[in-house]
Amino acid sequence: MKIAIIGAGYVGLVSGACFAELGHQVICVDNDKDKINALKKLKIPIYEPGLEELVKRNHQHGRLSFTSDIASAVKASLVIFIAVGTPPKENGEADLTGIESVARSIARAMDSYRLIVEKSTVPVETGKWVKHTIEINKKKKVSFDVASNPEFLREGQAIKDFMQPDRIVVGVESKKAEELVRELYGALGAPLLVTDIKSAELIKHACNSFLAMKISFINAVASVCELAGADVERVAEGMGMDKRIGRSFLNAGIGFGGFCLPKDLDAFVSISEKLGYNFSLLKEVKKINESKKLEFIKKIEDNLWNIKEKTIAVLGLAFKPDTDDMRFAPSIDIIEKLQSDGAKIRAFDPQATHKAKGLFSGVKFCKDAYEAAKGSDCMIIVTEWSEFKELDFKKLKRLLKQPLIIDGRNIYDPNKLKGLGFKYVSIGR
Ligand code: UGA
Repeated sequence: MKIAIIGAGYVGLVSGACFAELGHQVICVDNDKDKINALKKLKIPIYEPGLEELVKRNHQHGRLSFTSDIASAVKASLVIFIAVGTPPKENGEADLTGIESVARSIARAMDSYRLIVEKSTVPVETGKWVKHTIEINKKKKVSFDVASNPEFLREGQAIKDFMQPDRIVVGVESKKAEELVRELYGALGAPLLVTDIKSAELIKHACNSFLAMKISFINAVASVCELAGADVERVAEGMGMDKRIGRSFLNAGIGFGGFCLPKDLDAFVSISEKLGYNFSLLKEVKKINESKKLEFIKKIEDNLWNIKEKTIAVLGLAFKPDTDDMRFAPSIDIIEKLQSDGAKIRAFDPQATHKAKGLFSGVKFCKDAYEAAKGSDCMIIVTEWSEFKELDFKKLKRLLKQPLIIDGRNIYDPNKLKGLGFKYVSIGR
């Protein structure tokens, strides 16, 4: 099937490469000419395990190409995915101007039937506006369908999530649109839920907000565990054994970040409010998430006495492991607060350093955890990269000024670290 994907960001590029891998003919479109030129030279703008090989292979086989000319891509394709960004506005609403402008360009270039699919995360009722925009801007008397097909992939395991999804959700208004989407995804053999467009749009916001709620819930439980002297890891284990709850997304820590959960939570609160519902539950989810970072700073203060002029080794900068994405990473707020309190920061991240360099000033970026630890008053864990779990603690003990580790992701066994002579502070235990 001939597909155009408008927006070669995270979702667009991964989906494009994966659709090509399934045998479709894919054109990825982006108005960022530098990005398209780099992609033509097979330079991938993000770190995502497996993506580079997938892009290279499908490009070599002639199934994946790149352009900044949206009109030619629309003319050459039957199905057009809109995967442009929907960044947050000041008031928390999603900015949909990119979607509108793409819908307009599609409408002007269409010369026969097209299926236009929303892939970007959008508030409910966007489909209605996309349809209206195409209707009033199309040059010729051509028919078209609009569908919603939200993407649920996670950064760091995006290809696996795309290729082996729990489900594919598609919101449609016609049998023809449903059949086309079924054909597109047929090779995956995954369960496909067909709904109306509004419900499909809502499923995406509801899922990300529910995941955020799970994290804030366990983080609130972690605070109670600390007060009561219980262990949040054991509590999460016990809760997770109940199949109705499940163990995933019950990892306590410094809270969720990234470009999806925080912005989608805000956008869902905002669209609910617009529709006339005060989603106060989700407002509390956000509050708890913000408070976790402050609680973490307090732990550092409690253990260092004065922060001023202390050197802190920060392990992990990306918002989560296996990505170089720094957008809304908890490390940003934490480092900025520590610096404003007068601390010196020595930081290490296995992949995100090049992106982090543009975000901080006065941070010493180190080549590994040991260089960061050298001469530091304590080491803090901000992102749970798996390589941090395998560190040489004897070496670390020699390098740190004092054997103090404050862990915002609960990656170590407290008894083991105590046995090795460390003062070890973690979350909710
Ligand atoms: C999230 C969703 O998980 C995807 O299903 C969705 O497709 C994506 O947003 C999106 O809308 O594009 P992602 O942002 O890549 O994916 O990352 P997650 O794995 O969900 O992690 C989000 C944040 O929550 C990270 O900062 C992570 O450290 C934190 N987290 C996650 C916790 O603090 N505890 C947990 O138990 C799980």
